Amino acid sequence: MVTGKTVLVTGAAGGIGAAIAEEFAGAGAQVALGDIDGPGVKETATRLATKLGLEMGQELLAHRLNVSASQEVEAWVEAVMTAWGKVDVVVNNAGIQLNRASLDLSDDDWQRVLGVNLDGCFYLCRAAGRHMVARGEGVVINIASIAVQFGMPRRLPYCVSKAGIAALTRVLAVEWASAGVRVNAIAPGYIETELVRYAFEQGHIRPEEITAKIPQGELAKPRTIGEVAVFLASDAAGYITGQTLVVDGGYSVFK
Ligand SMILES: NC(=O)c1ccc[n+]([C@@H]2O[C@H](COP(=O)([O-])OP(=O)(O)OC[C@H]3O[C@@H](n4cnc5c(N)ncnc54)[C@H](O)[C@@H]3O)[C@@H](O)[C@H]2O)c1
Repeated sequence: MVTGKTVLVTGAAGGIGAAIAEEFAGAGAQVALGDIDGPGVKETATRLATKLGLEMGQELLAHRLNVSASQEVEAWVEAVMTAWGKVDVVVNNAGIQLNRASLDLSDDDWQRVLGVNLDGCFYLCRAAGRHMVARGEGVVINIASIAVQFGMPRRLPYCVSKAGIAALTRVLAVEWASAGVRVNAIAPGYIETELVRYAFEQGHIRPEEITAKIPQGELAKPRTIGEVAVFLASDAAGYITGQTLVVDGGYSVFK
């Protein structure tokens, strides 16, 4: 049950983040959506409000947010605290990809991907974690990837950032367990989003090759990740912490 919980979701303008926001809002949570795409995140929140019959401000908030800027993340958490008085759940979902040979990576390429995927995750954990630890309850959910366990060529900063998220998840889980705060990650396989559609279009990955390697035979819908996030935030997952839960239709165990 997540009814009455306040939930912050980053990268919520589209894709998996929007689906996570929708699942929580549909389950009765108050959801704050943050995304670097300001108009996009407002549009998504408005769409959810209409679809689910919810009120902007009361049950949904939308903010432009760059997760790689720590002061913006701090200000976002404080804005939600001011509006709703507590932070129950944060979902670190914002993430970017880069397909480039490791020898061709510039300093900026490296820092950009790590800055959004890993620094951003840490900044929000720290900003929200302060409130959660002080209050003695809270749930953090970080969106990693099956890239945590594979050597994917041309994806060095992405794979490193996601492996870093799995490590951060373990450390914070152990550090905050006695304060009643659980920290877990979800490692999605291939999900039907713009990120993956773009990779198909660019020829970075081929749809038929990918589906042949998924025992369940298809890519997941974004809402599947939303459903798993709601589960991890619920009391049913009360004894689960420090884990990176793979949600990939069997892709990572298929030989
Ligand atoms: N799609 C997949 O198959 C897949 C698989 C494994 C993991 N993931 C992970 O899931 C997460 C979401 O992926 P998606 O497929 O929905 O991607 P997406 O590109 O569709 O959405 C990502 C969102 O993050 C936002 N964003 C980018 N930089 C940001 C920043 N600095 N601050 C705030 N928001 C920012 C974008 O505007 C966008 O709305 C990512 O962390 C990604 O690595 C996706």
